[in-house]
Amino acid sequence: MSGLGAPIIDIDWLSTLYVWLDNTLYVAPDGTHVGDYELSSGTNQLTPPRLFTDALRAFGPRQYWEMNTYSGPLGDDQLRDAVATYENSVNGWSIGRDNVVVTYGAHEGVQIALRSLPPSGRRALVLGPQVPLIFQALLQQGFSFRELWGEQQHELVPSTDRVLDTIAACHPDVVVLTSPNNPTGDTYAPDELDAIGAAVIDRGGHLVVDKILSDSCLPGSSMVDGTSHQMGEWIVGGRCLVVDSLSKRRAISGLRTGYLLAAEDVVARHSMIEIGGCPPLLLAAAAADDLTTSARIHAGAHNAGYAGLDAHDVAHGDDLQRMRSTVEHNFEFARDALGSHWAWDSKRPGCFNCVVGIHVDPALGDDRERCEMLFTEAVSCYPLSTFAADPRLVAGRTAGLLELRLTCAAESVSFAETIARTKRALDSSGHHA
Ligand SMILES: Cc1ncc(COP(=O)(O)O)c(C=O)c1O
Repeated sequence: MSGLGAPIIDIDWLSTLYVWLDNTLYVAPDGTHVGDYELSSGTNQLTPPRLFTDALRAFGPRQYWEMNTYSGPLGDDQLRDAVATYENSVNGWSIGRDNVVVTYGAHEGVQIALRSLPPSGRRALVLGPQVPLIFQALLQQGFSFRELWGEQQHELVPSTDRVLDTIAACHPDVVVLTSPNNPTGDTYAPDELDAIGAAVIDRGGHLVVDKILSDSCLPGSSMVDGTSHQMGEWIVGGRCLVVDSLSKRRAISGLRTGYLLAAEDVVARHSMIEIGGCPPLLLAAAAADDLTTSARIHAGAHNAGYAGLDAHDVAHGDDLQRMRSTVEHNFEFARDALGSHWAWDSKRPGCFNCVVGIHVDPALGDDRERCEMLFTEAVSCYPLSTFAADPRLVAGRTAGLLELRLTCAAESVSFAETIARTKRALDSSGHHA
């Protein structure tokens, strides 16, 4: 297995397993979703922090600006300031409001980031398995790309040395990574990120980092990192673009609160290109509150826990702790419950997605058949093969194994039901625990 995919200039989406699962197997003829038990949603389906649900309930009686107003294309200024405060506090950067675009989720942020890069340099190197929306954004913005995976069976994200060698050999115009990686949860250490960034930037290229699965520190629970100090200077200097969103870390995907961090000229240009645009405003004040509160909790976690923080901050910290500990508990529950079905996993502390290898009946020829087997118990999942644009990257992996993304961010009762159904499907399909 070389780990370097072929150049991709187009994807026939209709023939992919991902589209077949999403539009055929998991959808009833009337268009409704029938996969009630999601092993792999990739979504944070926990109860959101009270800071958001209380703000929703407390609307009015005269404060409706988030419903009846437009912002400019860059979004609400209070939210942009809060983004800068949060990012500077957790990463030690020095960005300002003028480096921030509020976006319609990270999805739009990835598109804007790629669109802003020089039209003359559109060859990307994508590190590790990725969610299909990254591939789609690259193709929509006129890029061709190659994927680079790790060479070890269970190290799906490529080592730094391998990335540096490949940059030297292929000289891409842009390196794209999700940090932490989705689906594995892997991160590069800050010095590794610096080395990767410097390698592409010193050759005149750019670094695009999607850090949607990162999170700040909580007392007793370290930062789910994905950044380096150096990245802050590269953002300001126009060499690095960072995409983030509150979708995953605060369980509010439906609010579409994302942001892009970029050089001032990219941000200023966006405000011209998008005249008339208005990113979502609903709960913008609550999102700003989450960001500044999280920054204070993060700072406190390094010092003396919640000492010096007020009741509002402590309550938010408690909600975030509850979410993190539910994820860890769910993961352990799944591993114990699936017992000898479980072959390996890529779980990292604080990350709610990981890749899990599950023993299945070797008579099941491919991932489509393996998904159909789980679906006999109404369990849906996304196998590792849906995270590769070049199918050769996953061809020849162990037979008799279903490698899938496991998402542990669900309330424990429904998560346990999903795992119980998964076990029933596996038990009755050939490979017995
Ligand atoms: C790596 C990655 N980037 C971006 C997104 C999209 O996030 P948002 O809901 O903020 O648009 C997702 C969602 O699955 C994701 O996994």
